[in-house]
Amino acid sequence: MSPPPIWLMRQAGRYLPEYRAVREVAGGFLNLCYDPEKAADVTLQPLRRFGFDAAILFSDILVIPHALGQDVTFEAGEGPRLEPIRDADGLGKLSMDNLHQSLGPIYETVKRVSADLPDGAALIGFAGAPWTVATYIVEGSGSRDYPNAKAWALGNPDGFQVLVDMLVNATTEYLLRQVAAGAEALQLFDTWAGVLPKYAFDRFSAEPIREIARRIKAEYPDIPIIAFPRGANLYLPEMAKAPEIDAIGIDYAVDPVWAAREIQPHATVQGNFDPILLLAGGDQLERRAVEIVEALSGGPHVFNLGHGILPQTPLEHVERLVKAVRG
Ligand code: CP3
Repeated sequence: MSPPPIWLMRQAGRYLPEYRAVREVAGGFLNLCYDPEKAADVTLQPLRRFGFDAAILFSDILVIPHALGQDVTFEAGEGPRLEPIRDADGLGKLSMDNLHQSLGPIYETVKRVSADLPDGAALIGFAGAPWTVATYIVEGSGSRDYPNAKAWALGNPDGFQVLVDMLVNATTEYLLRQVAAGAEALQLFDTWAGVLPKYAFDRFSAEPIREIARRIKAEYPDIPIIAFPRGANLYLPEMAKAPEIDAIGIDYAVDPVWAAREIQPHATVQGNFDPILLLAGGDQLERRAVEIVEALSGGPHVFNLGHGILPQTPLEHVERLVKAVRG
């Protein structure tokens, strides 16, 4: 049995000393995202250190609101801050006019990484899914349960759809350019999909992801598309059956045995080692990694975490995880 390919969500980041060194001289976090030389370097750092099977473009999901004209800043240790948009009037401030001009440096990063990629490794492009990006646009920051975004989406769905449609258009254009620049697969992060009731999940998480995937496949039929609707566990089999979705990222709460039965017949499964266990280490690390590999060994599987790696994670634990997965 050959081991599954492995990469880790948020694999380029603060747990790496070489990332912190580049970050320190880059100026603000967004400056780093828009600096093709540094961003390409940071994208490849985790492959150099751990030999992962894929690189994921170094960028952020919030470059889309920024490119649409919203004020976005990252305060040290506080996470993102945006000038919140809460109604139709606010939507008037967003425009696609400067989209590619603003995102141009990111396409250049993709090109550079593609040219420098180690043999056998894949380059994954990504974007935030419309629902999750909308939560930041509306709330102006991270939040526990997204009351303003949900109130708009559930209370005035047709009004909220205007924002979602704009994000579908911008995200599709952004991802098409990433593919043109060398991205070989695409992941849509829907980090906050799990806060929606089923009817709203269908309309504002699943359908926008599927529409983006359909539009991308109309131009690039063979590009694999990975959906990661975090927390939407019971709805995953339905999404896996969508013909335009090739892989489903499962979060750490999903039973891999269940995923093998319900998702793998329809889509590749990506996941789902708990990032807190990676932080904790101990002998459970190897045991639980092997358990996931074995549970998903009967079908297509890409080993990953069930959410992003945490900044405090010891490097030695990541080395042990790679070794455990590769047997
Ligand atoms: O995976 C990778 O290595 C690629 C890079 C990547 C980043 N953000 C870099 C980043 C990816 C794929 C993302 C996605 C992202 N960004 C998501 C979806 C995935 C998830 O984790 O749920 C979300 C919700 C964001 C928004 C965001 N960006 C937040 C909430 C924060 C602050 C929290 C934090 O971890 O600091 C960021 C900042 C951010 N994005 C950092 C990195 C490396 C840290 C910023 C720094 O270096 O100071």
